[in-house]
Amino acid sequence: MPTSPASLILSLPDEEATLRLAKQLADCVCGKTEASGTPGGRIHLKGELGAGKTTLVRGLLRAAGVTGRIKSPTYTLLESYNISNLYFHHFDFYRFSDAHEWRDAGFAELFDEHAIVLIEWPEQAGTRLPLPDLDIQLAYAGTGRTARLVASSEKGQRWLTSLTPQRV
Ligand SMILES: Nc1ncnc2c1ncn2[C@@H]1O[C@H](COP(=O)(O)OP(=O)(O)OP(=O)(O)O)[C@@H](O)[C@H]1O
Ligand SMILES: [Mg+2]
Repeated sequence: MPTSPASLILSLPDEEATLRLAKQLADCVCGKTEASGTPGGRIHLKGELGAGKTTLVRGLLRAAGVTGRIKSPTYTLLESYNISNLYFHHFDFYRFSDAHEWRDAGFAELFDEHAIVLIEWPEQAGTRLPLPDLDIQLAYAGTGRTARLVASSEKGQRWLTSLTPQRV
């Protein structure tokens, strides 16, 4: 019986490759793959400016069925979407500095187990955030990118299993 992978490194040579990964992750968080379990979960996205965090989140939201404009929450900190019975919260904490803002905006209440929470620059939120199911580190690699995916929960591990190319 093979054990579930705790991490995975993927090469993303162009934007299309990032969008393919986004589609696979959308299926995971929406509970559409056999291994993914119930819908919901948290993904942290790390990496330098321009590494592709927003590109990945936009691709995921599109693949999940968001049809309108998908704005980067760089200035608003949060953009939320509702697709049938699923709630998506896209955070960007790059400009986060005010602890009161966290409390006053009621962010903690959005971390419901059924919600899908996607966070750019989680490092900037200090220790407020719960552990994600999956941590994705994007890095420049020539003209493309690499993605290092690390699972921090059983759910995240199941997602990685569905992303791992099947060997026969
Ligand atoms: N795999 C890839 N290979 C090459 N280019 C890519 C790839 N994925 C995304 N890009 C491009 O890189 C840029 C990434 O911009 P994006 O806004 O997604 O970065 P970001 O990590 O969210 O930056 P920020 O920290 O400023 O929010 C876009 O121009 C996108 O087209
Ligand atoms: Mg961004």
